[in-house]
Order: sequence, then C-alpha cells, then structure tokens
Amino acid sequence: MDYLALNQAAWNERTKTHVGSKFYDVPGFLAGNSSLNEIELSALDVQGKSLLHLQCHFGLDTLSWARNGAEVTGIDLSPVAIKQAQQLAQQTEISAQFACCDVYSTADVLQRQFDLVYTSYGAICWLPDLDKWAGVIAKSLKSGGQFYMVEFHPVEAMLEGYSYFEQQHADVEQEGTYTENASDEKHTMVTWPHSLADVIMALLNAGLKLESFNEFDFSPYNCFENMVNGAEIGESAQRYYLLHNNKPIPLCFSILATKP
Ligand SMILES: C[S@@+](CC[C@H](N)C(=O)[O-])C[C@H]1O[C@@H](n2cnc3c(N)ncnc32)[C@H](O)[C@@H]1O
Repeated sequence: MDYLALNQAAWNERTKTHVGSKFYDVPGFLAGNSSLNEIELSALDVQGKSLLHLQCHFGLDTLSWARNGAEVTGIDLSPVAIKQAQQLAQQTEISAQFACCDVYSTADVLQRQFDLVYTSYGAICWLPDLDKWAGVIAKSLKSGGQFYMVEFHPVEAMLEGYSYFEQQHADVEQEGTYTENASDEKHTMVTWPHSLADVIMALLNAGLKLESFNEFDFSPYNCFENMVNGAEIGESAQRYYLLHNNKPIPLCFSILATKP
C-alpha cells in the first residue's frame, strides 16, 4: 500500500474544500486575523526566530507565526496545499518559504537548521514511524533550538474507536473532511495511532530534552461530534469540551523540548 500517495491525494482534495470553508476563514486571515490559538500563542515567543512548520497544510498558521515576527518555512506533502500557501504569502506580502515534501525528507530537502520546529493539531497520525519523525526534528534544530507541538489527545481518538497503543497495521478508512462545507465525497486515508509515551520517548531517544508537557480538557476546534462550547458553561467561547460520563476528557496535549 502506497500510504503517501493515498494521503497526498486525499489532502489535495481536502485542501480544495478547506480553502473555501468558514472553519479556516481565509477572508478573516487576509483581513489580518491570526489563525493561531491560545494554547500555542501563550507557549511561544517567536519574535526574530527562524521557525520550521512541519505539515503546515495551506500555510495559515505558518503565515500567522510570520505576522508574530518569525522567519518562517513550512513543509507539507500536498502540492495543492503548498501552492495555496505560496499564493497566500504573495497576497499578504508576508515573507515565507514553502516546500512540498514528505516530513521524513524535510532535513534532506531544506538542508538547514532552525531556532524552532513546530507542528500542530492533526499531524502525527499520518506518520507510521515516530522515531524517524523525531530524528528529522533533531536534525532540523540548531543546538539550543526548541521543538514545540500541540496535538489532539490520543484518549479522544481512543473513545472514537481507535487503538490507544501502537499497532502493527495502519487504519485505512474512507473519510470525508471536517469542515462545515464538506461534500459527501470520501477519500481513502491511512493513519496510525500513537500513545503519549511513544511520542515522548521518540523525542527523548532522538536526543531532545523534555522541558514541559501539558494536557488540556478543551480543544480550540469544534471538529468532533457533540462538543460543548465554553460559552455554554461559563468558559471562553474559543474552547470546546467533550464530556464522557459527564466529565471533560483530555482533548489536546502539548510538548516543549530543546536540543542540547
Ligand atoms: C490536519 S493538517 C495539519 C493542520 C495544521 N494544524 C495546520 O497548521 O494547519 C495535516 C497536514 O499533514 C499533511 N501531511 C500528511 N502526511 C504528511 C507527510 N507524510 N509529510 C508531510 N505532510 C503530511 C497533510 O497534507 C495536511 O496538510
């Protein structure tokens, strides 16, 4: 099974839908809004730093980091997404580099090191081998550089029916997409579950030093069924919760690590 070809084709189609969605709100971004959320914004000061964004989709977050003062580079597997990111950079006159490649080829393709490597929401499930991923991160960081990730929590995926622990085989499914304007069209997508221990150990085994690890009982995205908006329970309207047995479950986690 050529998982890269399948996922690339699916993400090309998803991107075409996402660009016109309210969920991604491209007009808002063009008007000056940031697509970044409170979790990552409160964790990182990117001013004056070179930032590599792995799996940057069509570049909204990458370009938002540039608006916050970073010198940005984004990579993604989807040529449709990268072309769109380049167009948005041109339209907004934001200086940014984008490259289309598999995350595992990033260090070979870019041939440079960064102050900060960043990846976010919905990235690692597309990767079969986290040791290889962590190796790319370590190779792409300058000595003293930081790695930051914020991801959907594997407990949420487990409650949706996925394995919590690593498994021999990939999950191969026919999937639509998560934006409100999705059509009925489905694409074959290939994903792998990764436990928190596997993520952390991959980074430690690649030589990174763990600085902080956080778990969040909310997500900034209303992209699962039956989410409760924070405004309904006296919290921020930018937060969405999922209750299990009437109690909030972990929806996101973040990791900050450094390269010694
Ligand atoms: C859910 S999106 C990530 C969105 C991200 N939070 C952002 O900045 O907008 C997942 C992205 O991973 C990319 N992707 C999937 N497999 C990849 C791979 N092997 N190498 C590079 N990018 C990959 C997809 O093309 C897609 O754009």
